[in-house]
Amino acid sequence: MPPEIEKVLISEKEIADRVAELAAAIDRDYAGREILLVGVLKGAVMIMADLARALSTPVSMDFMAVSSYGSATSSSGVVRILKDLDRDVVDKHILFVEDIIDSGLTLSWLLRNMNSRGPASVEVCALLRKPDAMKVELPVKYVGFDIASEFVVGYGLDYAERYRDLPFVGLLKPEVYAT
Ligand code: IMP
Ligand code: MG
Repeated sequence: MPPEIEKVLISEKEIADRVAELAAAIDRDYAGREILLVGVLKGAVMIMADLARALSTPVSMDFMAVSSYGSATSSSGVVRILKDLDRDVVDKHILFVEDIIDSGLTLSWLLRNMNSRGPASVEVCALLRKPDAMKVELPVKYVGFDIASEFVVGYGLDYAERYRDLPFVGLLKPEVYAT
């Protein structure tokens, strides 16, 4: 474990078990249909890869990249599309795959944007959610874990582009933010 980590909040095993449960729920809900998983880069790469492999439902995958953050640790609500989907989504069942819902402002914007493109349905699966930080009401159908509003890293989540590769979700030591 890197020395900058203060503690492990959610272990690799806890994540794997929860992803399996989410996949089972999604398989039940989408029986007989196909899903277009839309990952929001870059934070969603780990949950996207693990969830896609845990699902039995046939899926295709596409990715979007948006920016709402500089290197700061709170959301501006200003969303810019850096990379859009490769294909259109008309009549597709879209499942957004997100690493974390913090203020919810990014996802709120993405949902409005996606709903305007004529999909058959749009739902959201997020590994983490910070209920105390949410500034907007959002219909998030599948949530891995509700956590306190602390800044976390690992399993896709970064601080200044680092720590995405950690297999667990953890807290950084306060001195990391000071430097
Ligand atoms: P929101 O618009 O405030 O919901 O922010 C969503 C995005 O901010 C997430 O997809 C992450 O990329 C980033 N983010 C929010 N909270 C954290 C955190 O605790 N650690 C790392 N990134 C975060
Ligand atoms: Mg993200």
